[in-house]
Amino acid sequence: MVNIAVLASGGGTNLQAIIDAQKNGIINYGEIKLIVCDRVCYSQERANIEGIPCILIERKKYKKETFEKKLLESLKEYDIELIVLAGFLTILTSNITSLYENRIMNIHPSLLPRFGGKGYYGIIVHEKVLEAKEKISGATVHFVNEIPDGGRIILQESLEVLETDTPETLQRRIMEQIEWKIFPKAIEMISREISSES
Ligand code: GRF
Repeated sequence: MVNIAVLASGGGTNLQAIIDAQKNGIINYGEIKLIVCDRVCYSQERANIEGIPCILIERKKYKKETFEKKLLESLKEYDIELIVLAGFLTILTSNITSLYENRIMNIHPSLLPRFGGKGYYGIIVHEKVLEAKEKISGATVHFVNEIPDGGRIILQESLEVLETDTPETLQRRIMEQIEWKIFPKAIEMISREISSES
């Protein structure tokens, strides 16, 4: 069983999808041992409801270096082998990514490499997609390295952008139809790979 930490900053709908996938047997090879939040958010509440240990390391309280040191301590304490970023807004530096090569996964709400990188997060991604009059959009699960949204792609799925779409409706459809499905699926794939290595 691969020990997983989920890092989250917001509402945590992806976190919930991962928890549910674990309960439903979609995720078998990994287990969420720890949830880390970098700010006060609803993801903490979800952790409490599920009885999963949750640590708050407030980004605004520490220098990046100290923040990452604290994060590393927690990851070590819980023997974490796979880190899952589920709407985590702190960009991790090579101090962490170099220690967990191909062991950090993220979900991004566009078809990377398009509409990704620094500054492309949350609703902004969908605003840019609509501004560019794209016909399709989607979501991408990828490994995390020191380049924001630049790591190797693991899974990607697309949907049609509708003429009537607003950034909000597009965001919602991508989450419901794609993110909540492909993220657990990708986590299971990678957990299985890690399990077979050890
Ligand atoms: C999702 O759109 C995800 O793609 C992005 O951040 C958002 C997180 O939403 N990385 P939630 O906190 O999982 O509800």
